[in-house]
Amino acid sequence: MEKTILTGDRPTGRLHLGHYVGSLKRRVELQNSGEYKNIFIMIADAQALTDNFDNPEKVRQNILEVALDYLSVGLDPKISTLFIQSQITELTELTFYYMNLVTLARLQLNPTVKSEIQLRNFKTSIPVGFLCYPISQAADITAFKADTVPVGEDQLPMIEQTREIVRKFNHIYGEEVLIEPKALLPDNQVCMRLPGTDGKAKMSKSLGNCIYLSDTQEEVQKKIMSMYTDPTHLKVSDPGHIEGNTVFTYLDAFCRPEHFEKYWNEYSSLDEVKEHYQRGGLGDVKVKRFLNSIVNEELEPIRARRKEYEKDIEGVYEILKEGTQRAKEVASKTLMEVKNAMKLNYFDNKELITERLPK
Ligand code: TRP
Repeated sequence: MEKTILTGDRPTGRLHLGHYVGSLKRRVELQNSGEYKNIFIMIADAQALTDNFDNPEKVRQNILEVALDYLSVGLDPKISTLFIQSQITELTELTFYYMNLVTLARLQLNPTVKSEIQLRNFKTSIPVGFLCYPISQAADITAFKADTVPVGEDQLPMIEQTREIVRKFNHIYGEEVLIEPKALLPDNQVCMRLPGTDGKAKMSKSLGNCIYLSDTQEEVQKKIMSMYTDPTHLKVSDPGHIEGNTVFTYLDAFCRPEHFEKYWNEYSSLDEVKEHYQRGGLGDVKVKRFLNSIVNEELEPIRARRKEYEKDIEGVYEILKEGTQRAKEVASKTLMEVKNAMKLNYFDNKELITERLPK
């Protein structure tokens, strides 16, 4: 079987380091592995509207930001199809048919949806569109017959919902039309959820604790130097803790053996640094400087590519337009298969006429 990837992001803000270690970096690796025949990367503007319907301008602005982030991290439009969700009307049509296959109770049980409802304080005024976004996400995935969906763990309930829809669809409509997808999680435990610079569980724009891929070297340095560490590590000589210490969590995510030779040859492994820190006698500033060098090294090629693409914004829109056209062709083929399976093909189904002809 052809291996196909589909994944995407809501354009509600610039992408940050959390997105990078949690998914973007992996996507580029998957793209460059050559193992996948088709790779679809979607800017999920329609999904973003499910909780930003009153702020379409924000969604519009961030389409370009996210596209630039994609291209800057090394997603190559010659290999990966980058497209905009709302322009593929087939997705909406699929969503409508899939709605029949999902109960309200099932949607209300979705753990991600549940926590988002709490976070947004919807209480009893939950917009129907928002509640249904897992169904639309199933349309996104199945429209491209994706078997692999690289996502963060918070998206697992969406993949499970998609699998249920696929099984039910194939069972009822009697054909192997849809493909059951699998989630592909980040392989590194720390990358599952990079905390914010303030030590809070997640990077989030509203908490102001993000390091953005588009941040300048100075901005990154400032953020790293004021990062949350160990509040009990007051003097350099004090023993420090590394659990819950954001600087060390980031080092776990980014540090590689060769970084020591390059930036900090007093140590030869992260374990050595950790030991010293725990023993006492190693100050936060030194560790932060090391982290800063590493993060900036990682971001440098990303900044360089962004600079190039920013010179040609029209070209970026052209990339999105071409990707969207390609995506539409694939989705419309799937939609046709779905409608055939559902017997919604009245005008190309000659049987409808012949079975009524007088014998
Ligand atoms: N829900 C995803 C997010 O919030 C975005 C998304 C929409 C998506 N459709 C998708 C991800 C399909 C993977 C597959 O980031």
